[in-house]
Amino acid sequence: MSEIARSQAGEASGSGQPLWLLAELTYRCPLQCAYCSNPLDFAAVKEELSTEEWIDVLTQARAMGAVQMGFSGGEPLVRRDLETLVAEARRLGFYTNLITSGLGLDEARIEALHAAGLDHIQISLQASDPDVAAAVAGSPKAHAKKLAMARSVKAAGYPMVLNVVLHRHNIDRLDEIIALCDELGADAVELANCQMYGWAHLNREGLLPSREQLETAEATTARWRERLAERGRDMRLLFVVPDYYAERPKACMGGWGAIFMTVAPDGAVLPCHSARMLPMSFPNVRDRGLREIWYDSDAFNRYRGDGWMREPCRSCDERHQDVGGCRCQAYLLTGDATATDPVCSLSPDHHLVEAARREAEADQRRVEQLTQRSVRASRVFCRQ
Ligand code: SF4
Ligand code: FES
Repeated sequence: MSEIARSQAGEASGSGQPLWLLAELTYRCPLQCAYCSNPLDFAAVKEELSTEEWIDVLTQARAMGAVQMGFSGGEPLVRRDLETLVAEARRLGFYTNLITSGLGLDEARIEALHAAGLDHIQISLQASDPDVAAAVAGSPKAHAKKLAMARSVKAAGYPMVLNVVLHRHNIDRLDEIIALCDELGADAVELANCQMYGWAHLNREGLLPSREQLETAEATTARWRERLAERGRDMRLLFVVPDYYAERPKACMGGWGAIFMTVAPDGAVLPCHSARMLPMSFPNVRDRGLREIWYDSDAFNRYRGDGWMREPCRSCDERHQDVGGCRCQAYLLTGDATATDPVCSLSPDHHLVEAARREAEADQRRVEQLTQRSVRASRVFCRQ
């Protein structure tokens, strides 16, 4: 098919060009977070793309019009060719973002990434308290290293963006967490309540905060916003409410196959980072070009637009705002990826979300009882 015909076919099916490319360079990671969004069977994924294969992916995505790219994982710093890939992405004209735990970073690598043209670094923090951080992420030394690297990233002149995943074991310490981010000199803080995919879904009962915890956290965030404004301190606080406490779902990924594309470590191309666990197969850049995958594959076309929707979404006035919610969440909760996201209060399955909230009120599970992400645990899921 010619380029023009292809682009017309894309328009006809409601698919524009991809704007975002998320390159999941590896599923390897030194941490073992109990809320990791990587697939449960990540250990089954072998044969990561080589440097040359990744450069080919970046080149194809840029030629299709993608402008933003994130390097993530696992821990992308595990890849020794990260600096080469960043330099190539910048040369192609991408705006580049590194999403990292900070482990594996040192002054020399910060300098090398800077020289390669990396635009933005986002470091994740687990908690304000080293014990909670160690219990959730499985590494007693990680917290101190992260703080040191956050300071170095700031010193190197990057805007400091910290990402803190909130859950029932750290959300009550939000006041101290924000104070720590302030002390580190953060320019922006994402207070991202844990979304229930991958390992987080497995551990949902032990991670979902209660409504009371959530409301207290929102009030704490509001107080900090006022305090920061009074001091003239420019530190943006973004508070992301967990889906399970919303009445309407999010327009996940801006719509399936609408603007976002993830390439997994082995070259599988996904409309979102969680889709791999859906009962369908995904094309691979080792077999097909990205353009063909984006416009023509069943995987990218299956939930595009609204033709696939069932009631109540099909006749709902809000379907173009929220695209019926998240396909992965619908599947994880109902076993049917075409269902209305049960987060929606109009969904016939909304009682599943209400039951999860009730569970969160009752469950007292301790942090040591969470299943941490590990190769050994993953192998159990690989066998299933
Ligand atoms: Fe959105 Fe579907 Fe709920 Fe309507 S019924 S608000 S389209 S999720
Ligand atoms: Fe996959 Fe929402 S995370 S569609």
